Amino acid sequence: MSSLLHGITIGNVRLPSNLFLAPLAGYTDKVYRSICLSHGAALAYTEMVSSEGVARGNDKTVMLMERGEGEKNLAVQLFAPDADTVKRSLEGTMAYNPAIIDINCGCPVPKVIKTGAGSALLKKPETIAEIVRTIVENTSVPVTVKIRTGWNCDCLNYLKVAALAFDAGASALCMHARTRSQLYMPTAHWELLKDLKSHFPDKVIIGSGDLFTAEDGVRMLSETGVDAISYARGAIGNPFIFEQTKALLSGERPRVIPTSEKVEAIMHHLEGLVDFLGENTACREMRKHVCAYLKGVPNSARVRQEVTCALTVQAYRDALEKLEH
Ligand SMILES: Cc1cc2nc3c(=O)[nH]c(=O)nc-3n(C[C@H](O)[C@H](O)[C@H](O)COP(=O)(O)O)c2cc1C
Repeated sequence: MSSLLHGITIGNVRLPSNLFLAPLAGYTDKVYRSICLSHGAALAYTEMVSSEGVARGNDKTVMLMERGEGEKNLAVQLFAPDADTVKRSLEGTMAYNPAIIDINCGCPVPKVIKTGAGSALLKKPETIAEIVRTIVENTSVPVTVKIRTGWNCDCLNYLKVAALAFDAGASALCMHARTRSQLYMPTAHWELLKDLKSHFPDKVIIGSGDLFTAEDGVRMLSETGVDAISYARGAIGNPFIFEQTKALLSGERPRVIPTSEKVEAIMHHLEGLVDFLGENTACREMRKHVCAYLKGVPNSARVRQEVTCALTVQAYRDALEKLEH
């Protein structure tokens, strides 16, 4: 079991373990990335960042690439329809000194797809290769590519996409084991991760899909043979999942997180957001996180309801005090 937990090298970046935080739009800002890194994630991706927005110097876009506290290796995920757009964004991206640049080829959202970016790129694997080549030729930053298994079940082209991406110089490939049509349901097809890894035994393959608990993470590593795993929904409101996975993989029993520690984590998270965004915006942003942190906490329904209108740190404190510790 312990051999499943190991350091990993992506291009010239040496990472202490193979447990990553996935890119999550609306969640993996610099505050939450730092929190997950402090709980044992080895790498944390930004949410997808528009190359077009970066090229235009849009303030809200470039803010997504700010480095978090203690974030040694910043992994920026870009989305773009083509290599030209990515090229125009490279100067702006490099200003944030990323350790890794990832290309989003999996986003299923119509707004993104209709621009030709995200999972629309799965229909044009050569464009994915051009994007990778452009970054490789113009920077010294390792490139990772995040894909789905294909556009739909009639077009499972992950092996072709992976071959082209690696040929173009990608240092690692992450696959969310669902098609674009599947969105986020039903069950991810882990057997396709196993197939991908078996075709590229010498390349770094990162697995994504249905990692909701530390046990899921251990199972994905052992059943599929992927080199690393990337927690997404399972890490929302649960930064502890990284240390729990490490414990399991080291043959220890993972710690049950007491409510008091969850409350402390929520307040720490909120304070980080206040520093980043100001109190009002931070309190609004924090609502979705709190609901996730408190999932399964006994008698937390009322508190969750109260924070949906909390606009100050004090209002959060007052609401959380009502939890039974
Ligand atoms: C709210 C949300 C936002 C996401 N944002 C991104 C994103 O910005 N970039 C990306 O590549 N994937 C994104 N994903 C996909 C996740 O990174 C992950 O691949 C997917 O959720 C499957 O993992 P899971 O089943 O363990 O959640 C997002 C998923 C969710 C639920």
